[in-house]
Amino acid sequence: MKNREQGKSETGKTGNVRVFFALWPDEVVRAALYKLAQRQQEACGGRIMRAETLHLTLLFLGDIPAERLVELQQATMAVRGSRFCLELDHFAGWRHNAIGYASPCKVPDALPELVGQLREQAAKAGCGFDRKTFKPHVTLLRNLERMPQMQAVSLPAWHADEFVLVKSALDPTGARYEIVGRWPL
Ligand code: 2AM
Repeated sequence: MKNREQGKSETGKTGNVRVFFALWPDEVVRAALYKLAQRQQEACGGRIMRAETLHLTLLFLGDIPAERLVELQQATMAVRGSRFCLELDHFAGWRHNAIGYASPCKVPDALPELVGQLREQAAKAGCGFDRKTFKPHVTLLRNLERMPQMQAVSLPAWHADEFVLVKSALDPTGARYEIVGRWPL
């Protein structure tokens, strides 16, 4: 997952890095998510996400100047989030971007609280970010061919005890992710 072209984001602009904060699943949750993706792909078609890239985005910052990354990492040290347990108990699709995703029916308070703190610190570090309402989900399939009905699914509990900052770059095989920071909850 190394960025071969250091400092070059997926938009191709030199000097920028494309980053986002995320929760990264443990191996048990990741394997179960991937199995669910394989099962759902049979019904909905689409492109399956690679198991090692499965994640839940907390805050998408997009392209930021590479030199701002250090400020962002330092500001993030002020985040004091609580641990929580996430039950991803539904699978559904969004028509507008043709993705299939797993999501929790009940969102623990600690999750939007964490996102709020990340937004605050990102703003302090002078970084712009996606201000859309936070809808926690893990994307499993892209380019869906058939829209799935929302359905209950059973996945192992996700015990979130840290969050990560991820650098993303696109190559012909898809997104390559590199974790560039980890903070405990
Ligand atoms: P998605 O899975 O719902 O597409 C890396 O691209 C991660 O950031 C993905 O999980 C993606 O969510 C999320 N993301 C949020 N806003 C985005 C945007 N405007 N462009 C690309 N990715 C975005």
